[in-house]
Amino acid sequence: MNALLLAGGMGTRLRPLTDHMPKPMALVGNRPWLEHLVLQLKNQGFSDFVMAVQYYSEQIRNYFGDGSKWGVRIRYAVEHTLRGTAGAIKNAEPYLDDRFVVVNADIVQEADLADLLEFHRMRGGLVTIGLTEVEDPSHYGVIEQDGEDRIIRFVEKPRRDEAPSNRINAGIYVMEKQSLQYIPDHREVSIERETFPLLIKENAGVYGKVISGYWMDMGTKERYRAIHWDLLNRVCRLPLDGEERGSGIWIGDRSEIAPGALLIPPVLIGNGCKIGERSIVGPFAVLGDNCEIGKGVRCSETIMWDNCTAHDAVHLNNCILGYGLEVGSRQIMHEAVMNRMEAKEA
Ligand code: GDD
Ligand code: MG
Repeated sequence: MNALLLAGGMGTRLRPLTDHMPKPMALVGNRPWLEHLVLQLKNQGFSDFVMAVQYYSEQIRNYFGDGSKWGVRIRYAVEHTLRGTAGAIKNAEPYLDDRFVVVNADIVQEADLADLLEFHRMRGGLVTIGLTEVEDPSHYGVIEQDGEDRIIRFVEKPRRDEAPSNRINAGIYVMEKQSLQYIPDHREVSIERETFPLLIKENAGVYGKVISGYWMDMGTKERYRAIHWDLLNRVCRLPLDGEERGSGIWIGDRSEIAPGALLIPPVLIGNGCKIGERSIVGPFAVLGDNCEIGKGVRCSETIMWDNCTAHDAVHLNNCILGYGLEVGSRQIMHEAVMNRMEAKEA
C-alpha cells in the first residue's frame, strides 16, 4: 500500500521562510520535516511513496531523488498549476494502489497508521479521516459524527461559534481508490470544501477516528516555533541528531563551544558550529549546521537554519533565521523572521 504525501502548497503563512521553498522542506530540528515524515512512515512499514508536488517541486525532487538513499521508493506526481488538495490526489491516480494513505506533509505528527488502517478495514468505508481535538477548531476542517463514527458533516474553517465540535481533520486519510471517481479531473478541487462534503452527502462511507500521539500543523510561524519548543522539551519525540550532553543539550559533530560560553537547556546545536566566549545560548535555541556565534552573544527562543552567523554582542530573542543569514555585531532582534532574497541551492 502506498503513501501519498501532499507537499505542493505555497505555505504563505510561513513566509518569508517559504519564499523559495516548499513548506514541508522547512527544517524541524535541523532536518527537513518531509525527511522526518518519510523515515517515520518507513518505520511503520511504508516503502512506496508518491509525493504530490508543485511549488518549488524541483527542490523536493533533487533532495529525495528516487528515495533509494532512504531505502524506499519515491515517485512524483507533479501538477502544472496547483490543483488543490483533492486535485493533487486525482493527479496522482496512476501511481496509487486500491487502498492508500494520504498525509498533509506540513503536519508534524506521530500517528499510528496501523491503528487507523485497522479501523478503516473494520468500518469498510471509502474514506477514513484521522481526527484530533483542539481548543480552537476555526483554523481547521471540523467534523460532526454519529454514534457509529460516521462523519455526517465536514466544515472547513468555520467561524469559532459555528464549529460543530472541536474534533478536526488531522490531515491523514485512508482512502479507497474508488473514492477518486468523486473528484473531477483537470481542475482545482479542494478535498475539504468539495470532496468530503460530496462524499458525505452521497452517503459513500466517510468515517473518522481520533489518532493519538503528538500532532501540530506547522503552517504558521507561531506553530512552527511551538513545534521546536515541544521537540526540545521532548513532548514531541522525533529523533534529534547530535550527542546529548547533560539533560536537554544536544551537540552535533565537530562543534566547538568556547570555555566561557554558556548553554542553557534545552538547546540543540548542529554539526560544525562555533560558539564564542561569554555567549549565552538558550533556553530554547536551535542552531543548524555550521552556524557561527561570536563573543558575548545572547540567543534564546531562536531557531537558526544552517550556515548562519551572529557576530559579537548580538542579541536574538524569539527569532527564526533562514539559511545562511548574517547578523551584524551589536544588533538586537526580537521576534524577527528572516530569509534571503535568492533561492537556496537544493
Ligand atoms: N500537491 C498539492 N497541490 N498540495 C497541496 C495543494 C495543491 O494544490 N494545496 C495544498 N497542498 C498541500 C500543502 O502543501 C499541505 O501540505 C497540505 O496540502 C494541506 O494544505 P494547507 O494549505 O496547509 O491546509 P491547511 O493547513 O489550511 O488545512 C488543512 O490541514 C488541516 C490540518 O492541519 C485541511 O486539510 C484542514 O481540513 C485540516 O484540518
Ligand atoms: Mg497546513
